[in-house]
Amino acid sequence: MALHDPSTPVSEFIAGKHGIFIDGEWRDGEGGETFDVHDPATGTTIAKVARGTAADIDRAVAAARRAFEERRWHGLPPEKRADVLWNLARIFEREARTLAEIDVADNGMPIAFAEWMVGSTIAQLKYYAGMITKVTGRNVSPALASDQLRMHAYTSVEPVGVAGIIIPWNGPIGTLIIKLAPALAAGCSLVVKPAELTPLSALYAADLMNEAGIPPGVVNIVPGFGHDAGQALVDHPDVDKVSFTGSTATGKKIVQSAAGNLKRVTLELGGKSPVVVFDDADPEIAIPGAAMGIFANTGQVCFAGSRLFVQKKSYDKVVAGISDFAKGLTIGKGMDPATQIGPLISAGQRDKVAGYLETGVSEGAEIVTGGAAHGNHGYFVQPTVFANVDASMRIVREEIFGPVLVATPVEDMDDIVRMANDTRYGLGAGIFTTSVNKAHLVAERLRAGNVWINGYGMMHPAMPFGGYGESGWGRENGTEGISAYQETKSVFVYLNENDRT
Ligand code: NAI
Ligand code: MG
Repeated sequence: MALHDPSTPVSEFIAGKHGIFIDGEWRDGEGGETFDVHDPATGTTIAKVARGTAADIDRAVAAARRAFEERRWHGLPPEKRADVLWNLARIFEREARTLAEIDVADNGMPIAFAEWMVGSTIAQLKYYAGMITKVTGRNVSPALASDQLRMHAYTSVEPVGVAGIIIPWNGPIGTLIIKLAPALAAGCSLVVKPAELTPLSALYAADLMNEAGIPPGVVNIVPGFGHDAGQALVDHPDVDKVSFTGSTATGKKIVQSAAGNLKRVTLELGGKSPVVVFDDADPEIAIPGAAMGIFANTGQVCFAGSRLFVQKKSYDKVVAGISDFAKGLTIGKGMDPATQIGPLISAGQRDKVAGYLETGVSEGAEIVTGGAAHGNHGYFVQPTVFANVDASMRIVREEIFGPVLVATPVEDMDDIVRMANDTRYGLGAGIFTTSVNKAHLVAERLRAGNVWINGYGMMHPAMPFGGYGESGWGRENGTEGISAYQETKSVFVYLNENDRT
């Protein structure tokens, strides 16, 4: 074991055999093929994983359907299901370090970030475990009463059925559990398709599902590629719901595929989120807040604060402060506890980000700091700040999904709101000001699903998360998060007043 390698049990797990999890058991892919998983810090292959295809998706959907029809999960008493989800939370507590190390190996993220993410999955599981016993319908009878009519009317809330869950690679265990916890709380059966770049933590979690007492067939996990396993899942006529996190382009494709059987769709997509800094902001808060708003997880965050707007008087100071902050960040392997910035996920993502760095320069923007690759192995890139940009540039309009910030000076509140809202996306937004008045007025006018004031990026299971515009459909977390996996039924009972026998 070299310095800053994962612990021995994690290395052994990664080097082991990785199959497809259906009906609570492991199997090989129908096609018998595997695909390679890489460590983004070195580019080397660390694991071989069974490659699920349409045939495996068919088998997994059939297993999920059987579990649902036999009421193996949603037929259990609510307190029993709450117990099982809480068990899973406790098991995740025990396995927290292991899950974090697996995502570091797979994704490259700093260990502290991975541990924070696993902590948030435990909070998710507990929050939705608590919600299971609170799912109830409404009695609407009194509202329907009239002289002519006696009626008993109520709503009941039911699980939507079989849910297909498609996971991205930028926060593997976090984006799995933000969907799995409410889907299970609702009583659904699941077929999960992890990202081909980072399937390992979902596969590790499979055995934990069994240990927690989730009945076989309720959670099925099929690793594989988007264009075959993913596509087969969203096309499948026996899937009732798809929940997807990933690129806006793939989200649009999923909407088209879902039209086949009009499956319900939740989409958590891209962003080009604005961060605004007023002249009255506290620079000690605004500078690190805005910097980590874009550089955290190497900018591979759907709500990364990638467009910075600073009021004119403080513009030079804030841009210089963020650039100095960027230069001071420690770039390295995720398992090194000193690391603040890990590599990008893949050679492809590195090339995409490098392409935007070139585009920015050719569009006439000025690099204040960064702008190049870091080191000569793995997929590292320097945190970068561009100034001298305008609203028509591709680096200002398009999601880069890397540690690249574009900075623009602004005049007043109207200017800020107009420029911040000049995007097809609407996921996150940051406001730094010491004026309570400005904070609330701007929060009201920004078209974004999540607004952070004097900080950036807080998420909580009780707070709905999602986007406006092309950032997606629907919300995760909160009571909205469970509704996404439920159907509501209205039941009318005609009461016959003449029945006096
Ligand atoms: P992607 O959106 O294609 O992949 C995300 C997930 O969707 C993966 O599990 C993938 O296998 C699956 N998928 C891909 N095509 C599918 C299809 N036709 N049907 C069903 N599932 C499918 O993103 P990708 O290719 O990994 O990255 C491309 C860009 O997307 C990134 O450079 C980044 O800009 C953006 N992205 C945004 C994310 C976010 O959280 N908003 C997360 C991941 C990527
Ligand atoms: Mg793709």
